[in-house]
Amino acid sequence: MKSRAIVAIDGPAGAGKSTVARMLAKRLGYLYIDTGAMYRALTLKALERKIDLEDEGAVTGLAEETEILLVPQDGTEIRVYCDGRDVTSAIREPEVSRQVSRVAKVPGVRARMVELQRRMAERGGIVMDGRDIGSYVLPGADYKFFLTASLEERTRRRWQELRDRGIHTDFEQLKKEMAARDAMDSRRPVAPLIKAPGALEIDTSNLEPEEVVEIILKHMEEGR
Ligand code: DC
Repeated sequence: MKSRAIVAIDGPAGAGKSTVARMLAKRLGYLYIDTGAMYRALTLKALERKIDLEDEGAVTGLAEETEILLVPQDGTEIRVYCDGRDVTSAIREPEVSRQVSRVAKVPGVRARMVELQRRMAERGGIVMDGRDIGSYVLPGADYKFFLTASLEERTRRRWQELRDRGIHTDFEQLKKEMAARDAMDSRRPVAPLIKAPGALEIDTSNLEPEEVVEIILKHMEEGR
């Protein structure tokens, strides 16, 4: 296995990317970078400032003046700071989830985030998860994975995750929102969600996160 490698993990919402990426980073002693959290932090700020999300100029301007930091904690946790404020919990609110694809499709926003993400990856030893990491942000990544799962299973996971945080949602409504977000993330003109050439696709529907991590590590060890 290459040392201080760059590992890219992409896939739709609820495919298990962040859990797996976090665990993998811990096993390898690498830094975990959650790029979705960056788009979420900017969305939260835009919502709080009541910025019209269809106004691409305003949203891009906001991206350019916003400082987003991902700070690793002990173990596998990272905390997300937006202009110095800890927004780790606030960015998981359902309203942010509903609106984030609108912000993430703005080309100026993506340009700014991608610049930050590439800078974070410069020294290697990272696991980065998102939608366009293997295909666009880090096309030269040493290892690329594309996680998928059925819409039903992805909704179940997100529903449980929200419930664990005390947020009760209607399953069918959540399923519709997940499908809408998938469609928007996949169809946008700039850096859509696609499987990068050479990425190993793993269907996680019937796998525990630990099992997915083992598949990934085995693949990396075999140097494929
Ligand atoms: O993985 P997540 O649910 O936290 O991502 C939030 C949103 O951000 C998702 O709807 C798509 C967008 N996103 C993106 O466009 N590109 C990335 N690299 C990561 C996330």
